[in-house]
Amino acid sequence: MTEQQKVYPVAEEFAANAWADNEAYLSLYQRSVDDPEGFWAEQAESLDWFKAPTKIKNTSFAASNVDIRWFEDGELNAAYNCLDRHLETRGDQPAIIWEGDDPGQDKTITYRELHAEVCRLSNALKEMGVTKGDTVTLYMPMIPEASVAMLACARIGAIHSVVFGGFSPDALAQRVVDAQSRVVITADESVRGGKHVPLKDNVDAAMTRDGTDIVDKVLVVRRTGGEIEWHDDRDAWYHEWVDRQSSECPAEKMNAEDALFILYTSGSTGRPKGLKHTTGGYLLYAALTHRYVFDYHEGEVYWCSADVGWVTGHSYIVYGPLANGATTLMFEGVPSYPTHGRLGEIIDKHQVSILYTSPTAIRALMAHGENIMDSSQRDSLRVLGSVGEPINPEAWSWFHRVIGNSRCPIVDTWWQTETGGIMITPLPGATDLKPGSATRPFFGVRPALLDNEGNVLEGATSGNLVLLDSWPGQARTIWNDHERFVQTYFSPYEGVYFTGDGCRRDEDGYYWITGRIDDVLNVSGHRMGTAEIESSLVAHSAVAEAAVVGYPHDIKGQGIYIYVTLGDDVEPSEELRKELTQWVRKDIGPIATPDVIQWAPGLPKTRSGKIMRRILRKIAANECEGLGDTSTLADPSVVDELIEHRANR
Ligand code: PRX
Repeated sequence: MTEQQKVYPVAEEFAANAWADNEAYLSLYQRSVDDPEGFWAEQAESLDWFKAPTKIKNTSFAASNVDIRWFEDGELNAAYNCLDRHLETRGDQPAIIWEGDDPGQDKTITYRELHAEVCRLSNALKEMGVTKGDTVTLYMPMIPEASVAMLACARIGAIHSVVFGGFSPDALAQRVVDAQSRVVITADESVRGGKHVPLKDNVDAAMTRDGTDIVDKVLVVRRTGGEIEWHDDRDAWYHEWVDRQSSECPAEKMNAEDALFILYTSGSTGRPKGLKHTTGGYLLYAALTHRYVFDYHEGEVYWCSADVGWVTGHSYIVYGPLANGATTLMFEGVPSYPTHGRLGEIIDKHQVSILYTSPTAIRALMAHGENIMDSSQRDSLRVLGSVGEPINPEAWSWFHRVIGNSRCPIVDTWWQTETGGIMITPLPGATDLKPGSATRPFFGVRPALLDNEGNVLEGATSGNLVLLDSWPGQARTIWNDHERFVQTYFSPYEGVYFTGDGCRRDEDGYYWITGRIDDVLNVSGHRMGTAEIESSLVAHSAVAEAAVVGYPHDIKGQGIYIYVTLGDDVEPSEELRKELTQWVRKDIGPIATPDVIQWAPGLPKTRSGKIMRRILRKIAANECEGLGDTSTLADPSVVDELIEHRANR
């Protein structure tokens, strides 16, 4: 039997102590879809409201009127729910355990300490003139101040926009301008795998770009003490501004539908879009999924290895765990530094019960052999989780056997920046596992598979994954561009939310995500639009045209394969290849570094001038047989030339 056909049943003992066993899952799920209003009204009682909601669900997916509201007359504050309400019972429990890049550095912050620090930064932001409804951009390392900054914004009703610290100055500037942030919070440098990344220098560079003169304060955390330039009129040290503030700051009363944050993500066309998440529904959904999916129990140490710059970090390092009063571990570094055993050593050192990580991280470790885990026991582990991309059954089983000592269930969680929280996933006490399958929908989630004409497909089949009804954690719109929100998610198929993913459902009703069906790449679990990379390349004077596709990559899941047509008088060379690679890296960020650049004298186009990406994808994947119908191409001979010089064989 192959790994893919194996079933790992729930251990009875696990089910007996879990938040939900299979029976509980089935009945809660049924209730959640039969009576969403009743179900979510009841769940909402788990949050602390200044004013409890009486209106629960008011949502429309009709393309003519996309309007999504949950708990719309309720009032609450996300930071209050993550901090204040725990002080009486859990004030002295660790809220954040921080593990530095250097194994000799760590720090534990209790709920009381976190509350005080968040209040101080809230007061500092107020002193800078930040008020309810303003946006603040965060460009931060993986240090506790990143969580503090998110919560401080939430506390005073400011909307945070976290930009991943691996993005370039241009990418940062674009997001600052789109969100119109007057304040940026950053650090002098971040540290990853022993290397320093010049965050403050990047902010300085971003501040020279058009439109960024809107920024009047850059608040800088001193992380390394590395040398930075200082602009007296704009720059402010975090410690100088924060330390002198009062450790009390009232939490602003927010409407449930007031924005909590914006988070940018790539689409198939155009510039990154800022998804807007709101306060009540998002927080409830993050907290509830965190509790059930990871079966979180009081006192456990939980570790999500994502970066706070991604949605996974928002929902499952910060908001979900802290709303549940959990201890959340935050790791500054990379899992293989200083040695490949680091991940296991951190688990032992902090007695981690739950580890949530990515298939890319697992595959990267796997490549170094099993004995890299010899330096740790990992006996504290109880639940493992995976997110961001399809997990291949080999990686699944290595994760299960080598990291989890063949003892721990793996929750393969499918979701998106747009969904706010986990959508399709096993519950560890309820769901028999099949390696590679995200299994079944979470409470309130109604997946369906459609054919290209929009017909609903029944039974065991494959199709386009859509969601039939709203759930509280859903993004409400795209910042400044509701029309694009409607076009992207609600126009492809009338009356449903389109995910952009392809999916198979098996005879047990389990879902198997097969990957993006639009022009979005998933490189190491990071989303990237082919259009973004292409527009970066054509901005280079040597490039006449470029087409970007993904191809299967052993570690990253997908690699970036680029076909470049050079300008008339330009000769291809190794130097130019390096230059273009650096160009994209500098323009977008290291995560967009091209893996392959192939010189393409011509690209396969239809007679109407449309690039046939299907063919380019096949050639990049080294699947040159059966390219399908090429007769509609303007010049079929370009295909032979591309095949002949393909880079991946
Ligand atoms: O294609 C799916 C893939 O990642 C996309 C969402 O990317 P992003 O918004 O960056 O959020 C990533 C973290 C939630 C999805 O459309 N994806 C995410 N999780 C899985 C997955 N593909 C397969 N299996 C998963 N568990």
